[in-house]
Amino acid sequence: MSYLFPTYARWEVEPDMAEGSYIFGKDGKKYLDFTSGIGVCNLGHRPTVVQKAIANQLDRFWHVSNLFIQGEQEKAAELLAKGARMDLVFFANSGAEANEAAIKLARKATGRKKIITFTNSFHGRTFATMSATGQDKIKTGFGPMLETFIYLPFNDLQALKQSIDEDTAAVMLEIVQGEGGIHVGTDEFLHGVQQLCKEYEALFIIDEIQTGIGRTGKPFAFQHFHLSPDIVTSAKGLGNGLPIGAVIGKKELERVFGPGSHGSTFGGNPLSIAAAIATMETIFHEEFCQEVESISQYFLEKLTTSLQVFTEVKEIRNLGLMVGIETSIDLPMLLKELRENDLLALPAGTNVLRLLPPLTVTKAELNKAINILQTVIGKFSKAVV
Ligand SMILES: Cc1ncc(COP(=O)(O)O)c(C=O)c1O
Repeated sequence: MSYLFPTYARWEVEPDMAEGSYIFGKDGKKYLDFTSGIGVCNLGHRPTVVQKAIANQLDRFWHVSNLFIQGEQEKAAELLAKGARMDLVFFANSGAEANEAAIKLARKATGRKKIITFTNSFHGRTFATMSATGQDKIKTGFGPMLETFIYLPFNDLQALKQSIDEDTAAVMLEIVQGEGGIHVGTDEFLHGVQQLCKEYEALFIIDEIQTGIGRTGKPFAFQHFHLSPDIVTSAKGLGNGLPIGAVIGKKELERVFGPGSHGSTFGGNPLSIAAAIATMETIFHEEFCQEVESISQYFLEKLTTSLQVFTEVKEIRNLGLMVGIETSIDLPMLLKELRENDLLALPAGTNVLRLLPPLTVTKAELNKAINILQTVIGKFSKAVV
């Protein structure tokens, strides 16, 4: 009997220890981890730089409250703001909290109600972020949702042109819809959204919770498209496993989040901040990001040549090391079989196998994963030669 609410259909694997790209199970097995704690441990498990940073902070203090000046918080905010080429940061504890704060910021800054999001988006599980999410299955049984969220088809600029108006506070999107099935925004669509936001003086919010912190080969995915959002949200990879979320905004928004307007007891916790500084200092470098881009190209090419022969593999999509394999094979069955063959992977949408290897993954590890995928998919699918 478990005393936990059964909100997660848990896997049969119980981790004993984790290191780099591997999780060592209590069953004695060594699993190649291409989930990275759902897009969190971008530097792999227990990277030394992050571990040392947390250990140093543990010896100093691990909570004092946001009533105090904390030099490390300032440093983390500077790294994050400069990484996004933006100005101001608010620290929260999770992705949903970061998006919640972004929604509050946009409403207050504009004095408007309507927020436009997209079908298949995912923005979190709090009331506002669940309401923002464009997937019915996330909301079932919890209604009524917060009003004034409008959901439009992703990558459909025409639909946005018809919906955006003078009461629109913000348009909010993911550059790559992660939970929704690895759908990448097109250049034309993303620039069109930015342009329409400008025209209607609505704020452009980019949710980089899954795509950010180097995952796609840039500090933030919007940088591939040279966009200039008003608000960006971050979490997941930011602390490489320690809980932290952040809202990054332009200077013009400073007056909106004045003293007493928003807050969080734990937001910007010293241990999470120490982890975030070490993580950003490692990832936010040209050479590191280029390496991610180049290894992701290698992965995609090899993956495509190895898997496109299978009739049940419909499409392979990616941006950097955020990879989706659309398949007609039953997903839970496929994921279980992969685990039995020592590869941990994730679902996305209804029919997409999602791979989020650590950004530090080696070519040998990628080859190993491809071999396992070939074997397992080959069990359920014919190969056409
Ligand atoms: C794009 C995106 N936004 C928001 C969230 C919510 O983050 P959290 O689970 O940390 O609240 C997620 C989590 O998967 C996400 O992928």
